[in-house]
Amino acid sequence: MSFACIVGMTVQAQPKLSTDSIDAVVAAMTLEEKATLLVGANQGVLYGGSAESIEYQLPSSARMYDNRMGVGGSTYAFPYLGITPIVMADGPAGLRLSVQHKGKEGEYYCTAFPVGTALASSWNAELVRRIGEAMGDEARAYGVDVMLAPGMNLHRNPLNGRNFEYYSEDPLLTGKMAAAMVSGIQSRNVGTSVKHFAVNSQETNRKDNDDILGTRALRELYLKGFEMVVKEARPWTVMSSYNRINGPYTQEDPALLTTILRDEWGFDGIVLSDWTAKRNTAAQVHAGNDLMMPGNKDQMQEMVQKVRNGELAEADVDACVRRVLQTVLRTNTFRGLAPTDSPDLAAHAALSREVASEGMVLLKNDGVLPLAQGLAIDLYGNTSYRFISGGTGSGRVNAAYTVSLKEGLVGAGYKADAYLENLYGSWLAYNDALHAEEQYSILNPAPTVPELAIGREKLFSRTPGDAAIITIGRNAGEATDRKIPADFDLSADETALIRNVCDAYHAAGKKVVVVLNVSGVIETASWKAWPDAILLAWQLGQEGGNAVADVLSGKACPSGKLTMTFPLQYFDHPSSYNFPYDFVGPPSFGPVMSVTGRKEPLVKDVDYTLYEEGIYVGYRYFSSFGKEVSYPFGYGLSYTSFAYSKPTVKASSDGFVATVTVTNTGSVAGKEAVQLYVTAPSGGLEKPALELKAFAKTRLLAPGESEVLSFPVSTYGLASFNELSSAWEAAAGMYHVHFGASVADIRCSASFRLGKPSRWEVHRVMEPVQSIQELSNNN
Ligand code: BGC
Repeated sequence: MSFACIVGMTVQAQPKLSTDSIDAVVAAMTLEEKATLLVGANQGVLYGGSAESIEYQLPSSARMYDNRMGVGGSTYAFPYLGITPIVMADGPAGLRLSVQHKGKEGEYYCTAFPVGTALASSWNAELVRRIGEAMGDEARAYGVDVMLAPGMNLHRNPLNGRNFEYYSEDPLLTGKMAAAMVSGIQSRNVGTSVKHFAVNSQETNRKDNDDILGTRALRELYLKGFEMVVKEARPWTVMSSYNRINGPYTQEDPALLTTILRDEWGFDGIVLSDWTAKRNTAAQVHAGNDLMMPGNKDQMQEMVQKVRNGELAEADVDACVRRVLQTVLRTNTFRGLAPTDSPDLAAHAALSREVASEGMVLLKNDGVLPLAQGLAIDLYGNTSYRFISGGTGSGRVNAAYTVSLKEGLVGAGYKADAYLENLYGSWLAYNDALHAEEQYSILNPAPTVPELAIGREKLFSRTPGDAAIITIGRNAGEATDRKIPADFDLSADETALIRNVCDAYHAAGKKVVVVLNVSGVIETASWKAWPDAILLAWQLGQEGGNAVADVLSGKACPSGKLTMTFPLQYFDHPSSYNFPYDFVGPPSFGPVMSVTGRKEPLVKDVDYTLYEEGIYVGYRYFSSFGKEVSYPFGYGLSYTSFAYSKPTVKASSDGFVATVTVTNTGSVAGKEAVQLYVTAPSGGLEKPALELKAFAKTRLLAPGESEVLSFPVSTYGLASFNELSSAWEAAAGMYHVHFGASVADIRCSASFRLGKPSRWEVHRVMEPVQSIQELSNNN
């Protein structure tokens, strides 16, 4: 053997990661390196991490990402193989990074955009796409490869603490909004992580709750939005949720993560777990949960051990490694794009304001709005002065500022009453002082300041300004759900404030507007008759006060509509009988996997939740059973009016295309969101009376101007899921197509005959062990 040959054998060149070298790189990696790549690099002690106590030697080739910006997570790098880290940061309403970046001077802010619910309330997918582009720009500027967004669980129940991050009670609207967001972010070559996959409908005991539901509700409602976003926008990653579905944890379920997600829907990215401590690592890898976040050494250790003792096939590990490497290849970090640290925050703030003004829903207006220029306004309510920009938890954004309603109104030329400003200023400062010693964090936020009780006599004795605005605030977030009566219903002080201000101002011939700066649905039926106008502002990001002033002043014409039902009372929602509305217990965060310890007997709605309502969530229930509501799904007023005419439906190669002409019949320019609902023929599966199948929004129409809106609907889009045959089925027959200003305000209709039935068989997986009916009877 020659010397040259010996050299060639011993000093073999290591492959470097490229599109063509993935197999070679996998072959070059040791089992320990593979295990390290599949476990996040953040060793999160908060999430049950035991980085210090585990005697596990990290491969010397692994390099930890230098987390100077405080990102949510990252993977390990292996420079000798050319493997760079994947850098990930939250979240749905903007990028969540630390303000201070270690080792650097200055402060680094991100833009707080309107929360998911407010974005969806615009019914404007194009605007949501633009928000995505701006978020993608910020992520790119700060060196973030994947945004842990959008959040897209369904609003099954109004009390879910994270509803504000999510879009709607309807899966089609959810899927379309998520697809727009994903396309926007990914147009900047920044990946997304659509979350939380799936059926993560409550925060109480979120890490252990078993969501028990039939496969029809599962596929038609809870998976539908994810199916749409995967097929339409191809997200780079999907985040598997904390909870279980019909037994297994989502993170350990091959039926969900492989059979449905990959085999049926064609997902080609990676699945990463929500930020969980160690579970059954082998089961996760086998299920196709490629990355375990935020990552602990004990997960690596277990993966290595189980491969060595034959309990986990190395081929399963390799499949995950290959997919992670494919994702690494896509990233801006791999491509060597250097962060600029200087996103265009001014442009993004302007965009945030524009979108915010379209995401508000005008619930009531007895002619008081828009407010005439320059009025003297008396501002009541804590949140008039301390506007809530977004929810708490990982969805929070560290923005440079939040414009309060008072600041927004003053900026728009109104005068705010100084006495009230001082009064509320002192009240807020007093409450801050009470909690000054407490340690708050994003998962343990400061409590909401109770509303100031201003006496009725006091209100009557004051000389009123030209009009009063009362802001009612609510905040919520990760790890706990909202409660009744506190939170969902108004407090006695809030009710008294609205009642007394309305009485006092009306007695003086002045008008009252209520602004709802809330994270989710609240009770409105008992008090909505009192004020002259109600504007549902949601949480609008850092430009909130400016955006509300834009709408109140008429600079922007309101065009948002509800993406969920406002019931008369909480218990009108069928899901409320299977929801932990009164649970008193610890929040579900940190290393604690189960807040109950999961001892027998299991606790209803906490250890497990029965989805007895099946497909009858939100308007599907209220409209099918003729139940009165406070404000229906799709509802929202404008400063102008619209007429719908010339409804048409034409068969397409795959379903139909419907059109309708919308004309602005009022006196100011405005936009109108039109909803297309379908009533299916009888004879097929039982269906809700109306189902949203498409929607579209006009451009800004000048008075008298018209636009023809077009709504394509596929035959698959008409199908419902038959649990018995495990197939999607679209029955033949006459479909009634309705054009609605809301689900309760159908303006015109047309019809479409489907000549022959269609059927798409899918895998019979994820069924509940026992039928929901039997389980319910045993409860
Ligand atoms: C949340 C996720 C989030 C992750 C990282 C988890 O607690 O459920 O939505 O992306 O933390 O911050």
